[in-house]
Amino acid sequence: MNYSVALVPGDGIGPDVVAQAVEVLDAAGDKYGHVFNYVELEAGGKAIDHTGEPLPADTLEAAKACDALLLGAVGGPKWETLPGHLRPERALLGLRSGLGVFANLRPAALLPQLRAACPLKDEVLIAGSPDGKPGFDLLIVRELTGGLYFGKRGRIEAADREEAAAFDTETYSRAEIKRVLRAGYAAAAVRRKKLCLVDKANVLESSRFWREVAAEVAAAYPEIETSYMYVDNCAMQLIRAPGQFDVIVTSNLFGDILSDEASVLTGSIGMLPSASLGSPEDPLAKNGRPMGMYEPIHGSAPDIAGQDLANPLATILSAALMLRYSFALEKEALAIEAAVGAVLDEGYRTRDIAGRGAPGACEKIVGTRAMGQAVLKALENIK
Ligand code: IPM
Ligand code: MG
Repeated sequence: MNYSVALVPGDGIGPDVVAQAVEVLDAAGDKYGHVFNYVELEAGGKAIDHTGEPLPADTLEAAKACDALLLGAVGGPKWETLPGHLRPERALLGLRSGLGVFANLRPAALLPQLRAACPLKDEVLIAGSPDGKPGFDLLIVRELTGGLYFGKRGRIEAADREEAAAFDTETYSRAEIKRVLRAGYAAAAVRRKKLCLVDKANVLESSRFWREVAAEVAAAYPEIETSYMYVDNCAMQLIRAPGQFDVIVTSNLFGDILSDEASVLTGSIGMLPSASLGSPEDPLAKNGRPMGMYEPIHGSAPDIAGQDLANPLATILSAALMLRYSFALEKEALAIEAAVGAVLDEGYRTRDIAGRGAPGACEKIVGTRAMGQAVLKALENIK
């Protein structure tokens, strides 16, 4: 089958890592008989340089017409002094809301090959772990197109300078809460069947509303164990006993914060992919599959851009998520994930994940391109 993929390589190391992911996608296409047609688009710093805006209207329109979008990273010091609405990060927010991708899936698991990258002790990793072994495998489902990020905000001027103020608001509708919870339950159903709603219901009215709606939605998923946790406690539990979590569903802001915390536990931000999904009922959905935007969790790392140093694995794994969620190509997604596992087993490491395995482990330190090539080779050998 043919699929159209919008590519936004973006800034910094974005183009370095996206180039490798495209090679891996094409190899998976050749192996399994699919064709990916790419539409390269500009957003972020590059778009600011060329058009003056972080997200030109034609970029968004072209992205909407594609089946899915793969993004590298946006931003860099060059654009940091621009006013808020003109910064490269606005492109991310504009794509998220423009494409309606409200459910942001951010997996964080401890890979045995990178055990030493996790700053936690064995005893902490054993507490709450499902199999009693040191480790964790959790998925944060972050609401991505509402809440504080998109709520009413503003400034209140006052004659007395000290009375001048600013505000941001957290507003969530029942429909917005329901759809992201359903995405969380769908994910939990094919995992360990546990869902924890993380909020601040002891203080915030919006959080109390989330809990009310969650009670309604939970009734439809009796096989899934639903629990509730305050976000401050969750921040602590993540470093006390991360193994207790399966799926965490939370608001935009809390998800932003907790997913950074969780990424540190894996010790390798260069490894973490993400998927942002819309609704299968949305007009942008293609063939009943939701619109999806896929990107590594890491940023644009301008200091190492173009030097063949970046770790391409998070973007390659994001491409695998695209095959799974946007194209329903599960076998192909698993093959790419297995190929990444195989290169780690073989000892291939980019600089950011070097020296993180068992002491004395035999490692081959490679650059971006060689890592991509190693994945291609491993993919050939997957049955
Ligand atoms: C993320 C990032 C973005 C966010 C920034 C760059 C706007 O931190 O994707 O987590 O806050 O959502
Ligand atoms: Mg963030």
